[in-house]
Amino acid sequence: MAVPTAILDLARPARRIAVLTGAGMSAESGVPTFRDAQTGLWENFDAASLATPEAWNEDAALVWAWYQWRVGLVRRVQPNAGHLALSEWGRNADLQITTQNVDDLHERAGSTVLAHLHGSLFSPRCTDCGLDAEVAEPPEQPIARLDPPTCQNCSGIVRPGVVWFGEMLPEQPWEAATASLREADLLLVVGTSGVVYPAAGLPSLARRHGVPVVEINPDDTDLSDQVDEVWRTTAAVGLPDLVSELQ
Ligand code: OAD
Repeated sequence: MAVPTAILDLARPARRIAVLTGAGMSAESGVPTFRDAQTGLWENFDAASLATPEAWNEDAALVWAWYQWRVGLVRRVQPNAGHLALSEWGRNADLQITTQNVDDLHERAGSTVLAHLHGSLFSPRCTDCGLDAEVAEPPEQPIARLDPPTCQNCSGIVRPGVVWFGEMLPEQPWEAATASLREADLLLVVGTSGVVYPAAGLPSLARRHGVPVVEINPDDTDLSDQVDEVWRTTAAVGLPDLVSELQ
């Protein structure tokens, strides 16, 4: 797909590129986005209501089973052509990736992720002492409820290492993300609906610092009005074309 000239004009001279990714980045790998309807065991649950401290307090086994299903799902899929294109671009340019995704597909494509704003499926920790726990083996078949493991140090309950709605973002990734976009020549926003703050505030923060912002998303989003250029394409189609034009 032809890359819009206005986007090439912004990308060609950019020496430092900040990238903000959301669930749409991994959609073509087969990871459902948050706004997609869920299927199977989870069809009656809304992802946004499972990803909360309230859901955990009410039924930790339900929430743990859902996260373990997602661990299994992410392990079975592969980075897509968009992840691979960003990895290739990062070998030739100063490209810093901030993601809201809790998968590891950027890393498996060969990128180093600067900031996982919403944590990771692969960093469970104890709810009591905070110690990192080992990633538990996901069950082979989806299961509706699964007791979370207990901490090896203090016997506390282990929770997913993700940020839930209503929780603070971890400070270090947030600081790293904001610093990277203040210093960037371009911010590329890929596959996010821009409805969950504070991450959704990053594009406007970049623009306040004079950094141009490009959105790559097949659909209109809450950010579309606030960016300099939009490209209505998908991550796995648009990013490889953009990166090959830049080589
Ligand atoms: P959403 O599920 O809200 O939005 C996904 C976005 O990806 C939408 O704007 C789609 O149009 C777009 N999209 C779909 N397929 C795409 C493709 N192939 N290529 C590019 N874009 C595509 O996901 P996020 O914006 O990441 O937070 O959601 C933000 C946060 O809300 C998540 O990190 C999570 C969630 O609830 C927490 O769990 C705290």
